Amino acid sequence: MKHADLRVDGARLWRRLEALGEIGAVHGPNGERGNARLALTTEDGLGRDLVVGWMHDLGLAVSIDAIGNVVGVLAGTDPDAAPVMMGSHIDTVRTGGWFDGNLGVLGGLEVVETVVRAGIRTRHPLAVAFFTDEEGARFAPDMLGSLVYVGGLAVEDALDIRAADDGARLGDELARIGYAGSTPCPAAAAPHCYFELHIEQGPVLEDEGITIGAVTGVQGISWTEYTFTGQSAHAGTTPMRLRRDPGLVAAQVIAGVRALAGEFGGAQVATVGRCEFTPNLVNVVPSQVTLTVDVRNTDEAVLQVVEQRVTELVDAAATAEGVTVERRTLARFEPVEFDPASIDLVEATAQQLGLSTRRMPSGAGHDAQMLARICPTAMVFVPSVNGLSHNIAEYTHPADLTAGANVLLHAVLARAGVA
Ligand code: GLV
Ligand code: MN
Ligand code: MN
Repeated sequence: MKHADLRVDGARLWRRLEALGEIGAVHGPNGERGNARLALTTEDGLGRDLVVGWMHDLGLAVSIDAIGNVVGVLAGTDPDAAPVMMGSHIDTVRTGGWFDGNLGVLGGLEVVETVVRAGIRTRHPLAVAFFTDEEGARFAPDMLGSLVYVGGLAVEDALDIRAADDGARLGDELARIGYAGSTPCPAAAAPHCYFELHIEQGPVLEDEGITIGAVTGVQGISWTEYTFTGQSAHAGTTPMRLRRDPGLVAAQVIAGVRALAGEFGGAQVATVGRCEFTPNLVNVVPSQVTLTVDVRNTDEAVLQVVEQRVTELVDAAATAEGVTVERRTLARFEPVEFDPASIDLVEATAQQLGLSTRRMPSGAGHDAQMLARICPTAMVFVPSVNGLSHNIAEYTHPADLTAGANVLLHAVLARAGVA
């Protein structure tokens, strides 16, 4: 068989997605099947063990680095050639699905298995990676493992980060689940190039009836955590004029950032995703409220203006209520553009496979945006049903998963060179 005729086995890819989805499974009332595998929890460890087992089954040389990133490598014919890397993440948000991240990793394994079974040798090695804590939901920032991998954050600093939920230290959790590896991080050498297959996580491809998104880049991401401190008081006896209520400030910030996104329009998004009241009791004016603001835009200049406006609205609301403000930057990444030649390759490969395509930016953050700092990088998107993700109802039709994996296969073969 000519290698141009090679196709992945969609059923085998699906079986791996299903098996990984069984770990930390979350079931919804309407038959939804999702995942809760927050980074470095016991479930994340079990998911890692399963994927590492598959890497060994495929004969890959597996390494684990100091931040817990795992890379499996299939040797190429040229001992001096850097690997063509595929990958993503297998941690999820608490209300995650089967596909976010998992698809890029298991799609990579499927590409490798297809190549191995066909008896094809590539000149460059093929690597499949999963990066630690892409989601950032437990340990901020997001894309943490890939950020350390590319030298954007010192590993010692990353290991000291504390969890948002239980305050655990990242390095301790990594050791607890058995993934404090010995390979140095940042990586000693850059991959030849990087491709990440991912679900779109938004509605565009489905709306337009298009199968493959050739991703042009990732929008800028800004995460800030605010802690508002006021005066805890009795809900029945404290006159309204005497209150210093951080809950009111939180409410005004939540409504305010939504209005700001509306005012800026276009691609501007703004979200308050976490909000915690202390002491969180029915008859107590709260003493403290902590919330997070996530703002994103494809245009760095606009994003900076929006950040400034968020600061102003927070300060105005807090001052009016006599509440103090502490702010902490959790994540800040500028917009990233992918490698033009790699984007062209993804698009041309999909078209050669007879698939409909469109170019599009990514609204979500991805490990690819970090890898783009050290090697030519691009992404392949496939449609998300109802545009849903970070929701256990996340779903992508098997035919679209298979189509995306075939694009990944042929883009990778083009860059790796068939010996
Ligand atoms: C992380 O993946 C994000 O986009 O929030
Ligand atoms: Mn993801
Ligand atoms: Mn995600």
